[in-house]
Amino acid sequence: MNKILIIDFGSQYTQLIARKIREIGIYTEVTPYFSSVQIDENVKGIILSGSPYSVDDNNAPTWDFKAYEAKVPILGICYGAQLMIKNYGGKVQKSARREFGAAILEIKQNDILFKDVSNKSVVWMSHSDTISILPKDFTIIASTNNIPVAAFRARNKNLWGLQFHPEVFHTQEGIKIFRNFATEICKIEANWSPSNFIKNTIEYLRETIKNDRVIMAVSGGVDSSVAAVLLHKAIGKNLYSIFVNTGLLREGEFQEVLDIYRKLDLNVIPVNAEDIFLEKLSAVADPEQKRKIIGSTFIEVFMKEAEKISDVKWLAQGTIYPDVIESATDVKAAKTIKSHHNVGGLPQNIKFKIIEPLRVLFKDEVRKVGEELGLPKEILYRHPFPGPGLAIRIIGEVSPQKIKILRKADKIFIDELKKHDLYNKVWQAATILLPVKTVGIMGDERSYQWTIVLRAVNSVDGMTADWSRLPYDFIADVSNKIINDVNGVNRVVYDITSKPPATIEWE
Ligand code: XMP
Repeated sequence: MNKILIIDFGSQYTQLIARKIREIGIYTEVTPYFSSVQIDENVKGIILSGSPYSVDDNNAPTWDFKAYEAKVPILGICYGAQLMIKNYGGKVQKSARREFGAAILEIKQNDILFKDVSNKSVVWMSHSDTISILPKDFTIIASTNNIPVAAFRARNKNLWGLQFHPEVFHTQEGIKIFRNFATEICKIEANWSPSNFIKNTIEYLRETIKNDRVIMAVSGGVDSSVAAVLLHKAIGKNLYSIFVNTGLLREGEFQEVLDIYRKLDLNVIPVNAEDIFLEKLSAVADPEQKRKIIGSTFIEVFMKEAEKISDVKWLAQGTIYPDVIESATDVKAAKTIKSHHNVGGLPQNIKFKIIEPLRVLFKDEVRKVGEELGLPKEILYRHPFPGPGLAIRIIGEVSPQKIKILRKADKIFIDELKKHDLYNKVWQAATILLPVKTVGIMGDERSYQWTIVLRAVNSVDGMTADWSRLPYDFIADVSNKIINDVNGVNRVVYDITSKPPATIEWE
C-alpha cells in the first residue's frame, strides 16, 4: 500500500502528523529516527517530525539526508526543517525568545505546497530556534512578522521545510498543506479508508490464519471488541473469545457486554472467576501488588480456559498503533512518557503465534472500523476502563462490601452523565471509594461513613488530562443521589487535580 513515512525525532506531535494525514485518506507509518528505513516502492514521501532537542545540542538526533533525498520528496517540520537546513550548510540560531502560539503566515512565492492556501493564514508556532541563513539553492516560500524563514524549499531537490506545525488544530490550512504534499508532490492517491482497511485485513487474516484456531481475551473495551469482530468476519467460529468476569467490573457490565457479543454472533466463552480474584486480593492494600495479583490471576484463568480448546495456534490481541509506536520510539527522545499497565500482558514463553489485526490503527480509526462492522455505540464510545477495574478505584483493601458500594455510586454518576448529555463530553469519568470515614448528620442522627470521590477528566489520549468543569448543579445533584441511595456513604467530593501532577486513576 502506498504510504508516507514519518520519521520521529521525539516530538509530542508526531502521532498527530500521522493521524492528520490519514484523515485525508493517505496511509502513514511512524518510524524512529535511529532505525534504518527501507524505501520500497510503497513509500512515496517522507515527513520529518519536530523534536524536544535543538539541532546543535550534543546528543541531538541526526538523519542521513543524502541516503534519501533522491528517492522520495521530503518535508521537514520544525526540528525536521532545521535539521535539513543545518545538513545542507545553512544556519540555525537560538531565538531571542521562544515563539509559541499563533502567527500569520504570508506566502512569498508560488509553490505547489501552498496550492489553494490563502495568501495570509493563521499557523501555530512552537520553537526556540530560528533558521537564520538558508543553504545555497534554498529559497523562502513563506514568512511571518517574526521570522523570515517560516517555510522554504530547495530549488533543485525535492525538499521542503516548515517552521510551523501544520498538524496542530490551530493551523487553519494545515490539512491543505499536507494534502498538497501527499497528492501533488508525492503523487499518492487518497484511498485509505476504514472500509478498505476492513477488506484488506479480512483477506490478510484469512490467508495468514487459514483453518487454524485462534484464541483471544475480550474485555468489553473498544480495541478487543473490534479486533474480535474483525477476526470473526475473517475466520468465523475458529475464533474463540474468552471473556473473564473478574468481579471487578461495573454494575451489570459483564452480562450486558456478553449479550452484545452474543448478538454479534461471536464465539464467546464466558468465565466466572469472581471468587478467585476476590480471594487473591483479600487483605492486600498496596496498589502495585493489587495490579500484579490481578494481572497474574488473569493470565492463570485465561490460560486454563485456553487449554480446554484443542489445537490452538494463534493468540490474537487488540494492540493498536499508539502502543506499537510508543514501544518502538526511544523514550529518552520523547518528553511525554506513558507508563504501561495493561492487564492481560501474557508470559514471554507463550506457545502461540501472535496476531494483531488493529496494529496499524489509531483509536479514532478503530472506532470507525467498529462502526462499519456494526458494533453498537455502547461499546465503541464507552469511557476507558482500567484492566484491574474497580480494584484500583477502591483505595486500600478490596472487599465485597466495598465493591457493592462503589458499583452503586458509579452507576449513579455514569447514568446521570448520560441523562444530562455529558457522558460524551468528558473523556473518562469514575467514582473512587476512599477508606476514610467522616462524621455527618443524617436526619437527626450522627453518621460515620465512607467517602466517595467523583473524578471526570478531559483528555485526548490519557497521557495528560484536565479535570472536567462539570456544572455545579449537576455535581450537587449526583452528590445528593449518592448519599441518599448508597448505604455506607455520607460524603462526596470532586477531584480538581489535573494530570500531571496527579494521574487519572487514584492508584
Ligand atoms: P492513569 O491513572 O495512569 O491512567 O493516569 C491513564 C489511563 O489508563 C487507564 N489505566 C489502566 N488501564 N490497566 C489498564 O488497562 C491499568 O492497570 C490501568 N491503570 C490506568 C486509566 O483508566 C486511564 O484511562
